[in-house]
Amino acid sequence: MNKIESRKDEHVQIALEKNVTSIHNYWDDVELPHNALPELNMYNIDISTKLFNKTLEAPIVIAAMTGGYDLAKEINERLGYAASNFQIAMGVGSQRAALENTQLRETYSVIKDFDIPIRIANIGASQIVLWGYKKSLRCIEDIISMIDAHALAICLNFLQEVVQPEGEPHAEGCFQQIQQLADAIDIPVIIKESGAGISYDVALRLSKTNIAGIDVGGKGGTSFAAIEHHRAKKHSDYLHARCSETFWNWGISTPQSIINAGKATNWKIPLIATGGIRHGLDVAKALSMGSRCAGIARVLLQHSTKSKQATVQEIETIIKEIRTSMFLMGINSIEKMKEVSYGFRKRDEGIQ
Ligand SMILES: Cc1cc2nc3c(=O)[nH]c(=O)nc-3n(C[C@H](O)[C@H](O)[C@H](O)COP(=O)(O)O)c2cc1C
Repeated sequence: MNKIESRKDEHVQIALEKNVTSIHNYWDDVELPHNALPELNMYNIDISTKLFNKTLEAPIVIAAMTGGYDLAKEINERLGYAASNFQIAMGVGSQRAALENTQLRETYSVIKDFDIPIRIANIGASQIVLWGYKKSLRCIEDIISMIDAHALAICLNFLQEVVQPEGEPHAEGCFQQIQQLADAIDIPVIIKESGAGISYDVALRLSKTNIAGIDVGGKGGTSFAAIEHHRAKKHSDYLHARCSETFWNWGISTPQSIINAGKATNWKIPLIATGGIRHGLDVAKALSMGSRCAGIARVLLQHSTKSKQATVQEIETIIKEIRTSMFLMGINSIEKMKEVSYGFRKRDEGIQ
């Protein structure tokens, strides 16, 4: 295995075996109103939604996680099967490894075999900064065709880049690259944070580009600083172990990021709420706050490393929980979820 392959492998193993979550799950601060007279039949609730003009049968995105080494192929295959089974969206992890080693392409392209309504390609933002515009465009065309993608996610993961021993914390010129690439790429471009969330100002800047969606990727679930902390400790790298521990809980929570991004964009750009989603009730909370879909990573990783059946069963359960939440509020469609008057206990988040 080369360096990137073993790093992706380590990330998955650590996410499965260690405590890698933020100290608090901020979905616990959101409350949904109970309706004792819902006046509807639970089986008539429509949980389908539209994202980028495609229909998803449930408002779920399997968030970007992996690819680039042997086990990743199996994980993506199981997730791809489940995404097709439930007609939900699915992202793959950063495809950089397959650009550097073509033998790894099928660990991502395996999801092409499934009829998934939205397949999302993925590349890190620091990568496009390093490559520059022309090379980025070439590489992005390649990763899009690798999985026959319907959308592309550019992943803002500067927290991870800065605490990771091999990190590449190059952010200068990133916004301009995003602007230019969003103009040039002919499928929807999603800007995706991966655990540190989105401020009002960042969303406002993004709203002036041609991006099609924001995955707010907020704090509250998997912390990449935590994952890198365990890695650095394992490799006896004191500097990075210490720094990543210090920034374990850095960022803006997912619910607060939705509010920030929604207000900054006048709710005109579809938002995906990823970060700390544990079950269908969290998905319902995310929808009530105005996001179009919820993204789920670690919970599905746990099931996808067990079996295809476990993955399917977990998503089935999450869907049942979404329906249950909607039934108990008397809401019969995803569109109407926006009208729910949720309660949000804002914790001390510092400056947004
Ligand atoms: C093992 C692992 C690998 C990940 N790799 C990527 C990646 O390559 N690209 C990306 O955009 N996000 C990546 N993520 C971040 C997830 O997409 C998601 O934003 C984050 O885990 C928060 O969601 P969660 O709390 O449901 O886990 C990864 C997450 C995990 C757990």
